[in-house]
Amino acid sequence: RRVVALVPAAGRGVRLGEATPKAFVPVGGSPMLVRAIDGLIASGVVDRIVIMAPIELLDDARKLLAARAHAASSIPVDVVPGGAERTDSVRAGLAAASDATHILVHDAARALTPPALIARVVAELAAGHRAVVPGLPVADTIKSVSADGAVTGTPERAALRAIQTPQGFDAELLRTAYAAELSATDDAGLVEACGATVRVIAGDALAFKITGPLDLRLAEALLSGADH
Ligand code: CTP
Ligand code: MG
Repeated sequence: RRVVALVPAAGRGVRLGEATPKAFVPVGGSPMLVRAIDGLIASGVVDRIVIMAPIELLDDARKLLAARAHAASSIPVDVVPGGAERTDSVRAGLAAASDATHILVHDAARALTPPALIARVVAELAAGHRAVVPGLPVADTIKSVSADGAVTGTPERAALRAIQTPQGFDAELLRTAYAAELSATDDAGLVEACGATVRVIAGDALAFKITGPLDLRLAEALLSGADH
């Protein structure tokens, strides 16, 4: 087994609204990207990491990583250019991960993800599941709404899960899903569109995605005073 983690970090962070692309914004004194990488390494289940960064920040990303203990870790970390949409970035990462038997896709923006969650996803892959995603029950009622603002449906909340990363896949399955050129808002969605079964395991609240300013404040509060 060879597990390669692809880390999409090429987004602009429009909703966060900082001057720097989001993955490079510090949280608790370290860029989100660095925290995400630290978590993947600490999980002990990842053999290699490929980061997809904004093209103008490739050198910055490489310097950030070289300046840290990663250089001393035995896990190779490569940086490649991402693309315009997240799926383009993941596709670029896939092209750089031909050595993988299993792939994790893990957002840089989920900077506080516990290493134990990453290990649980890989354990499910090792047990033979070909697509594994972490999910949490949703707190709010979710409704579908038409363009003119009318509610068109209310799915039963108990059956819903908010899906996180890392999402884990058999490498061949994920490659096939990306080759199909369909669209979805997450990687598992592409795999589902190919008719494959995606297994959901219990997520972790700390794997939340830092999306807006409130999320950044939450992350800062969680890290303040903690030994991170
Ligand atoms: N991402 C990426 N390439 C893109 C868009 C997003 O690699 N073209 C990455 C982001 O860097 C992030 C992850 O995908 O780590 C999740 O995306 P999101 O939270 O939407 O981040 P951004 O796209 O940066 O934020 P926004 O949508 O607010 O601009
Ligand atoms: Mg985005």
